[in-house]
Amino acid sequence: MRFPKDFLWGAATSSYQIEGAAYEDGKGRNIWDDFCAIEGKIEEGANGDVAIDHYHRYKEDVALMKELGIKAYRFSISWARILPDGIGRINQKGIDFYSNLIDELLAAGIEPNITLYHWDYPSALMLNGGWGNDESPEWFAEYTRVVAEHFGDRAKWFVTFNEPSSFMGGGCCGINNAPGLSYPPAMLAKMCHNVLKAHGMAVKELRRLVPDCKVGWAPTCLPAMPASDRPEDIEAARKAFFAFDERDRSFVFNPAWWSDPVMLGRYPDEGLARFGQYLPDGWEKDMELISQPLDFYAQNIYHGYYVRAGENGPEKVTFPLGRPRTAMGWNITPDALYWGPRFLYERYHSPIYITENGLSCRDLVSLDGKVHDPARIDFYNRYLLSLSRAVEDGVDIRGYFAWSLIDNFEWAQGYNERFGLIYVDYQTLERTPKDSFHWYSEVIKTNGENL
Ligand code: BGC
Repeated sequence: MRFPKDFLWGAATSSYQIEGAAYEDGKGRNIWDDFCAIEGKIEEGANGDVAIDHYHRYKEDVALMKELGIKAYRFSISWARILPDGIGRINQKGIDFYSNLIDELLAAGIEPNITLYHWDYPSALMLNGGWGNDESPEWFAEYTRVVAEHFGDRAKWFVTFNEPSSFMGGGCCGINNAPGLSYPPAMLAKMCHNVLKAHGMAVKELRRLVPDCKVGWAPTCLPAMPASDRPEDIEAARKAFFAFDERDRSFVFNPAWWSDPVMLGRYPDEGLARFGQYLPDGWEKDMELISQPLDFYAQNIYHGYYVRAGENGPEKVTFPLGRPRTAMGWNITPDALYWGPRFLYERYHSPIYITENGLSCRDLVSLDGKVHDPARIDFYNRYLLSLSRAVEDGVDIRGYFAWSLIDNFEWAQGYNERFGLIYVDYQTLERTPKDSFHWYSEVIKTNGENL
């Protein structure tokens, strides 16, 4: 058997990328509403105002999930939809939306997997200093309490943060994520530390209010993979995986900087030696809060890079010309789903769920009315075989979520990158399951034996 008997097969999305209804039913603004409004930030001036209109079409989408056969659906909650100002006043219509979605999922036999934060920070709190404000962990705890109190009777599976390195690195080091600012190292280190504290506080609140919950967090990274099976190359990749690169704020992109505090209760020594000077005074006393025991370690993995043992330590191997790449230009490296989970399991000893994996393709509707996406099927097939090899070698992998269930707003790339198992016509909002949808459905049915 390739995968454990009760392996959790799922698919994932996030609030801003699919919901739309950006200014409806009392939702507050968030930093993505604001970022998209700045000229030149998003390809073709796109935004998530309508997205795929999941807010109004969630019933149709849940029916498609049922047809697909997923056991779990990972989605995120829009913080400002339920707390328009980030804290304080609750928006009942926002609560109703998620409550109805959860009921619809349960009626379809699909487990709701809630991600608390997938990048859409309330604008009201951003104007009050965002993660740089020392009250920000408490704001997040308040939001978590509202989620737990309203949905915790039916939803039991939670992820606190999605990819902190992306929203802090991409959003706060002047790259192309909201809020699109660039902070100096000390401010950035303090903001990251506040995110870690917010994570710890959220876990505590979830345990208190939903005692039978399962909670984890979902970072991402580009796994370092050995260029060969030689033990020296494996050791070089293991080292490179968690090592800090030369950039002056590289801690923000480093998997150990984020996950060692959460999983091991300490910042990594190499990072402390270089960046410890930037941490806020008294950070040591927060480590216990930050390292609340988790039920699982969730990880998003898309692609990695190869490393070999060089004379002066690990060396990056350049990819050959004409290598296979996705439409977005990401390298196709199935080994990432073997080495990523393996190295993370060795370090953190926690059950692992792959909470995102997938690719964008130049999908289109063919003359026969169908969407043929053989490249996506091939990608998933290869990556899942690698994952099954990790299972075989003793890595405790409990589930896998395809990114994405459905085409959606791909952040700064707008609607130009299609990651879904379901195609969306952005003019009519009509949904068409792609060939990969039917193929993935068979994977789920056979528990991966058809790979
Ligand atoms: C994010 C998703 C995004 C996907 C593809 C992940 O980093 O969590 O929101 O759509 O990658 O870029």
